[in-house]
Amino acid sequence: MGIQGDKPENFEQENYMLIAIVYDSGWGHTARQAQSVAEGVRRVADAEARLIPVAEGAIPWDVLEASDAIVFGSPTYNGAPSARFKQFCEDSTKPVWSAMKWRDKVAAGFTNSGAQNGDKLHSLISMALFAAQHGMLWVGLDLMPGNDSSRGSVHDLNRLGSWLGAMAQSNGDQGPDDTPIKSDLDTAAYLGQRVAETVRRLQVV
Ligand SMILES: Cc1cc2nc3c(=O)[nH]c(=O)nc-3n(C[C@H](O)[C@H](O)[C@H](O)COP(=O)(O)O)c2cc1C
Repeated sequence: MGIQGDKPENFEQENYMLIAIVYDSGWGHTARQAQSVAEGVRRVADAEARLIPVAEGAIPWDVLEASDAIVFGSPTYNGAPSARFKQFCEDSTKPVWSAMKWRDKVAAGFTNSGAQNGDKLHSLISMALFAAQHGMLWVGLDLMPGNDSSRGSVHDLNRLGSWLGAMAQSNGDQGPDDTPIKSDLDTAAYLGQRVAETVRRLQVV
């Protein structure tokens, strides 16, 4: 999957919305999460999702400017977003931040790590702060925490109990076909759908 850079044909359609998912992934685990966010976006009528891996070529700044929302995603490395994701953040300063081109766009975030906790929250905080610096409107998860009672299990939606964004955990000895588990991917899809529904609500106002 490479960067999809062209503006879509149905760009001018009345209810059309474009949601970009800008993410990094070293070994494909966070890419699975990104794909699930895209699936969630596509559950909403007339919503198109564009996957933009930051490490696979030039960033299509025009597509991001044309997007109604941008969802940021990164593995948690050293308790923070990856260096490649941070490079994307820094690179946005001149073409985007200096002219506040993302002002009032909806934003959200997701992250994946090896440990159950792994200090993932710090990655989401970094993304939310980045979005705030761009004047964006951050959307978190409106989910109850999963796996937090005697009847709960790892198969619950939001099993890692996050509100700022979607979290996933990937076992270090398994490839991206096997980890993160379905509940984490479902949580990512839920976030994608929520972002698209939020954009729709803002379009109606
Ligand atoms: C340089 C590096 C730093 C990492 N730091 C953390 C960390 O702080 N917390 C954690 O739980 N996992 C950490 N991990 C594990 C990754 O988050 C985990 O392997 C993740 O699934 C990688 O996702 P990816 O395949 O999308 O790159 C680290 C991995 C690497 C390579």
